[in-house]
Amino acid sequence: MTFDPLLVKRDFPVLAREINGKPLVYLDSANTSQKPRQVIDAMSHFLETSYGPINRSAYHLAAEATDAFEDARIAVRKFINAPKTHEVIFTKNATESMNLVAMSWGRANLSKGDVVVLTHMEHHANIVPWHMLVAERGIELRWVPLTDDGQLDLTNLSALLDGAKVFSFTAMSNVLGTITPVKHLCDAAHAAGAIAIVDGCQYVPHNVTDVQAWGADFLAFSSHKLCGPSGIGVLWGRETLLDAMPPFLGGGNMIADVRLDGFTCAELPSKFEAGTPPIVEAIGLHAAIDYLNGIGMGEIRAHEAEMAAYAISTLKNRFGDDITIHGPTNIEVRGATISFAFKDVHPHDVSQVLDQSNVCVRAGHHCAKPLMRLLGANATARASFYLYNSPEDADALADALANAGDMFAF
Ligand SMILES: Cc1ncc(COP(=O)(O)O)c(C=O)c1O
Repeated sequence: MTFDPLLVKRDFPVLAREINGKPLVYLDSANTSQKPRQVIDAMSHFLETSYGPINRSAYHLAAEATDAFEDARIAVRKFINAPKTHEVIFTKNATESMNLVAMSWGRANLSKGDVVVLTHMEHHANIVPWHMLVAERGIELRWVPLTDDGQLDLTNLSALLDGAKVFSFTAMSNVLGTITPVKHLCDAAHAAGAIAIVDGCQYVPHNVTDVQAWGADFLAFSSHKLCGPSGIGVLWGRETLLDAMPPFLGGGNMIADVRLDGFTCAELPSKFEAGTPPIVEAIGLHAAIDYLNGIGMGEIRAHEAEMAAYAISTLKNRFGDDITIHGPTNIEVRGATISFAFKDVHPHDVSQVLDQSNVCVRAGHHCAKPLMRLLGANATARASFYLYNSPEDADALADALANAGDMFAF
């Protein structure tokens, strides 16, 4: 291990919990991550000392709150290596970020017959907004298929992108753990004259992110999956694109002027931040970024690659053909999100039996129903590891799974 996950774990108060005398084994970070003491403290400290309105009032407290809020934006810019701070838009979550692009850029630029290319491994957040534009505008959706081991099948990518205006894809699958070749996909989109939208929800919390190296046009992600609070997400977009886009939501903060006969928009980023923003949540997100940077995103990725390798080999060694692990086995192209089928036991039953050992995994369709259909399953069980998980957690998963096997032996 390149760093000690057991030491990291100590920063997360909830992970010290025991339920019915047994320790908590949290393996659901792809769903939402736990929060370190540093984030909890930063948010309470801000609430106790500096909370106030932002962007609106001239007094000292309000200026202090505004500075703290804008410092969070700078931290996000550096975290993803965006060129300009005002290209960072705070939203409610990644879902809202994706909807912002579809509804603002999409409505301004897409009309009947225009093509948007997605992949078979997308989360509903990167499917449904485009379906809404199919209904509203008559656009066409095309889908990049998958290989048998759950990677993108890029054999016909040029043909799929031919004439497309948008290529929107995940950087890491929330079901299969697959890490996609983002730079290659951005280059392919641009070669075809399309913009490249990256759903970074599962990637950004676990890897070094560099939107300039990728050459992406938009990136969406949520704070709650990267040790920050829920209630705040990020959309980064190229200045030229954002500048040309109409506002998404209307109201306070996003205007330069309002008259009886209309309004004019504020400059970036306010244009896309209507209403009171998630102020305390931005402070928490900033603290989460500082926390992750303190450990190092490269270290985190290395640890998770080791965790994925360990967990996959442990499960395979213990259960052989009784377990099917979806997604790539090559650790180079996958994160530590591991979906599996266990014997004929329904994933919900698996999850309930694991819960008796306090092993928390998600069971369900993971908001990726088109992918589930491709896998021929209604649902999978999914164990997702993060920086605070250690090999002992993978062992606990395997032990609890053995209990499930005994319980459902037939
Ligand atoms: C790949 C991916 N995209 C988008 C989302 C949506 O994130 P949120 O619910 O925070 O908006 C998720 C959440 O699980 C996800 O895994």
